[in-house]
Amino acid sequence: MKGSTVRNRELASAGQVKIDWAAAHMPVLNRLRDEYKQSRPFDGLRVGICLHLEAKTAHLARVLADLGAEVTITGSNPLSTQDDVAAGLVSEGVEVHSWYAATAAEYEDFVMKVVNSGPNLIIDDGGDLVTLLHSRRRDLLSDVVGGAEETTTGLLRLRAMHDAGELGFPMIAVNDALSKYLFDNRYGTGQSVWDGILRSTNLVVAGKLVVIAGYGWCGKGVALRARGMGARVLVTEVDPIAANEALMDGCEVATMDEAAPRGDIFIAVTGCREVICDRHFATMKDGAILCNAGHFDVEVAVEDLERQYPSRQVRANITEYRRPDGVRLYLLGEGRLVNLACADGHPAEIMDMSFALQLLALDYLVRAADLPPGVHRVTNEIDQKVASLRLKALGIEIDRLTGRQTEYLNSWRID
Ligand code: ADE
Repeated sequence: MKGSTVRNRELASAGQVKIDWAAAHMPVLNRLRDEYKQSRPFDGLRVGICLHLEAKTAHLARVLADLGAEVTITGSNPLSTQDDVAAGLVSEGVEVHSWYAATAAEYEDFVMKVVNSGPNLIIDDGGDLVTLLHSRRRDLLSDVVGGAEETTTGLLRLRAMHDAGELGFPMIAVNDALSKYLFDNRYGTGQSVWDGILRSTNLVVAGKLVVIAGYGWCGKGVALRARGMGARVLVTEVDPIAANEALMDGCEVATMDEAAPRGDIFIAVTGCREVICDRHFATMKDGAILCNAGHFDVEVAVEDLERQYPSRQVRANITEYRRPDGVRLYLLGEGRLVNLACADGHPAEIMDMSFALQLLALDYLVRAADLPPGVHRVTNEIDQKVASLRLKALGIEIDRLTGRQTEYLNSWRID
């Protein structure tokens, strides 16, 4: 086995059991593996991956390897790698560099190991792999056919890179596919964020005031599930349209300054920084729970808490900060992605669609001749294919347009 860097290889069989469970619930990806197993579209290609390294991701790596790819993978967040899953993947011949609770230096070193593998194709989640490749190993840019980005934050970074004339190859915006954000961002985040909060706190949600910062697709999903569990939901926003959507979905809308003294549970899911900070911590009530569901750990200003208040660990993944007046604030998962730091990420059936898109995006890059550097949309054909395969896997048929209906929809004359 090539030099992998994982915490403990003896965890391999436990990891494989986890991967197998996820795999059994990812029918779309499995169908694509069957469809492509003869043609092996990734034969001889090096695929570098930076994704949250848990069981569903491991199954994607496994499928890509089955289709001929030489995969090198790292995690995309220091707290989301599961050491048993990483070991399980190594035992199946994939090169892995990652472990749970990596320091900032270790995390960067692991991403650099993937960069240094000289990838021809890239799958990134948040943009760290692409950014480090451009800033440290420009000599490897010409080896890259292209890549695919999983998340909103990564696309913001890629578009900024492209606008600055820096992006050296095509990147497919998997996040922006309909069969990604309508399901992964909304229902995936909606469920997995609550999974993380419930697992770590073991507290009731019904009757509480849940403050959600950000009403994009992820915020909408988190709010939907909060209401389903009987919470009252207050949304904070900077976008007047999103704020109106929140109102009409039945949420209260206010500023974070107004929400801070009232909320029981705060969830930041904006993609921006310091959304919940010093002046908010100062007015919160005793027992307030704080967490982040955005890609980077900058939404809840953890340094403000660390700098001012003594802390202690009160449960796995919960840090208590005590204000001088005795008020206790509880931060989940160190302010990192609560669904991955405190749970297992999105459900397998959801990641099935997202990772099917990733696979098809890489296949598209291999087949598309001379796609220019820039951020490209997932084609409608790929989007429809993933949605159709999922229905097929569920045994669900949908209606088809008749010829007369198609003609009607494409006409402009009044009969
Ligand atoms: N599992 C793997 N990648 C994930 C992501 N981006 N969000 C949630 N769960 C995941």
